[in-house]
Amino acid sequence: MAYTVPKLKDFSAAALEKAAAKLLAALEQETAAVSNESAWKDLRDRWMARKNGVLTQVNDLWLKAAPKDAKRDVGQQVNELKKRVEQAIEAAQQDPKNAGSSSRLETDRLDITLPGIQRPIGAEHPVVKTMNEIVSVFRNLGYSVQEGPVIETDYYNFEALNFPPNHPARDAQDTLFIANQESKPQPERLLLRTHTSPVQIRTMEKIKPPIRIVIPGKVHRNDPPDASHSPMFHQIEGLAVDTNITFGDLKGTLDHAMKALFGSSVKTHFRPSFFPFTEPSAEMMVSCFICGGSGKRGSQPCRPCKSTGWIEILGCGMVDPNVFEFVKDNGYDPRKVSGFAFGMGADRVALLKYGVDDIQLFFQGDVRFLRQFA
Ligand code: PHE
Repeated sequence: MAYTVPKLKDFSAAALEKAAAKLLAALEQETAAVSNESAWKDLRDRWMARKNGVLTQVNDLWLKAAPKDAKRDVGQQVNELKKRVEQAIEAAQQDPKNAGSSSRLETDRLDITLPGIQRPIGAEHPVVKTMNEIVSVFRNLGYSVQEGPVIETDYYNFEALNFPPNHPARDAQDTLFIANQESKPQPERLLLRTHTSPVQIRTMEKIKPPIRIVIPGKVHRNDPPDASHSPMFHQIEGLAVDTNITFGDLKGTLDHAMKALFGSSVKTHFRPSFFPFTEPSAEMMVSCFICGGSGKRGSQPCRPCKSTGWIEILGCGMVDPNVFEFVKDNGYDPRKVSGFAFGMGADRVALLKYGVDDIQLFFQGDVRFLRQFA
């Protein structure tokens, strides 16, 4: 029989004690019978519900009904009782021993025939994967890898690369500067590097010629994000310095690299350009490996090359003698050594390689997108 709260005639401490003992005994029986979460919830509601729960009835029938002069003592006893009931009900939920034997079997059951839990281990990001591929093409040519800081000084990012003091690239419109640097002399002011070229200087300060290096890394520019721009992107820089390095070496090396990356049938094409740290400078195009250089896909125009049949892929040139002047003391005498350098956007190569039409997708971290490249 389910417990019901009796009306009291006698409100003495002894009578109340007896009534409380009966209530607690009933509660003990009921908690022992709880066999699962939903039974526990029923129990909790039966005892603690504001409306008509056992404790509310105790309040009404024992405390409110008590004669005035007994109220204080009854109040204390009822409070004590409430506490014990609440504790007992709480314990009934936490203590698995309070669950009936059938439910223990149920909750502790271990089905050893179930497959294990798969923990996804992740995969290379498509941009990182592309960078690694580019790096490995140059590793096979004997290049080693160098890296440098993303937060760079004006000296390495601009000055030692022969940028004149008022070059537009130094403008805050293009470059993201670290705040509060005005008190420092210009060369020491910090910024987010706008290209990987500063690592050319850092490496030539450290390592004597001959050198052949590639520099993969993150760079930043003050560009609003759109389908083909991101304020953060990735470059791979290359630098070769030795005696008698010529523009022919530059062309041969890059032509080989493009064939290794995009397939042996791609062609390369160089056209004049300008960079403060190379002279002469060039932009290199590869024949579009999507449409094979025809500018068309079936009857449709080829979008990646804008129907031109060519895709601009990197900037390059022969290291400007003025750049060697900054590292002359480490063996880079511009009269004795020469070199070439190049820099390409890794994200752009990844976009083309995987046929992705929006660079933002690379950086939004949506696993549904990224999983496709795993
Ligand atoms: N640093 C140049 C850029 O970011 C690319 C470049 C690198 C050009 C090396 C020439 C030589 O646009």
